[in-house]
Amino acid sequence: MTAELEALREQAEAELGKVGTEEELLTIRTRYLGRKGLLTGLLRNIAAVSPEARPRFGKECNELKEILTARIDAVLDGMASARKAATLLDARIDVTLPGRGVRRGRVHPVIQVREEICRIFASLGFSVVEGPEVELDYYNFEALNIPKDHPARDMQDTFYVEDSIVLRTHTSPVQVRIMEKTRPPVRILSPGRVYRRDSDVSHTPMFHQIEGLLVDKGVTFGDLKGVLTAFLKQVFGEGTALRFRPSFFPFTEPSAEVDIRCVICSGQGCRVCKQSGWLEILGSGMVDPEVFKNVGYDPEEVSGFAFGLGLERIAMLKFGISDIRLFFENDLRFLEQF
Ligand code: PHE
Repeated sequence: MTAELEALREQAEAELGKVGTEEELLTIRTRYLGRKGLLTGLLRNIAAVSPEARPRFGKECNELKEILTARIDAVLDGMASARKAATLLDARIDVTLPGRGVRRGRVHPVIQVREEICRIFASLGFSVVEGPEVELDYYNFEALNIPKDHPARDMQDTFYVEDSIVLRTHTSPVQVRIMEKTRPPVRILSPGRVYRRDSDVSHTPMFHQIEGLLVDKGVTFGDLKGVLTAFLKQVFGEGTALRFRPSFFPFTEPSAEVDIRCVICSGQGCRVCKQSGWLEILGSGMVDPEVFKNVGYDPEEVSGFAFGLGLERIAMLKFGISDIRLFFENDLRFLEQF
């Protein structure tokens, strides 16, 4: 290689040896190999070389060009892998760090009770249906024989959406909706949320009820007692004492409230049963003929019973919870106990 080319090569090698950034490297490439670069310049001046030396000079120029190109590419490659390594290092995670952990979810106590009750009634041949929570006044009240001046319609108890639309105050409107579109026999259970303007240790503005309805030919109050007794004994234990106490609901006649022997004091009298020894568990009764007429059933031909109960109340008694608001505070220390 001519001394001139040798010098150029050494100079280039020295510069490449201390190159820092990719930008610098590209500048070096342009300086030597670019269209106006040093090596290109030499080649362009080949005419000044003597004809005998010319072929060798040309060959050596090309060789040097190849050498420099390869060197520059190698440095570029090195830079790219260094950059990649740095990125990886930057993003590295310490797999030995303890994880944040995912808390184990549980079925909410109210939902546990709902599932248990649905299971029991499914075994008695009831099917589960649902109705809307935003309900027409007609289904929530009117069709259930609750007259316009009934205290339950009071602004104090009912959330009104509009004049004729309410947040349902009980699950009983589902009875009407189902009977409107099916012919007897009917055997349904309807769980869901209901709303009332009420809030203290035993009331929340939203709570859960389950409605039951059985309609067929020849259904009697004896059937009501039999079904509800079987149900309550499954939930609270075979030895649970029950009583059926006369009551009133506009949509059932006769009506009965069902009490169980207090599960806290076994009937001795305590704070929970207000010294009575009994706990009120559900409302029930034989479907009022007026309700049947509203859905186009003939009360001379069919009869039936209905019942409704509050799920929170049952869950409170089953699990020994004294404040209903605990169910809706989402405190894991409470919820994780079930
Ligand atoms: N809907 C009544 C209530 O919310 C309960 C009930 C249901 C009573 C069905 C009788 C028959 O209090």
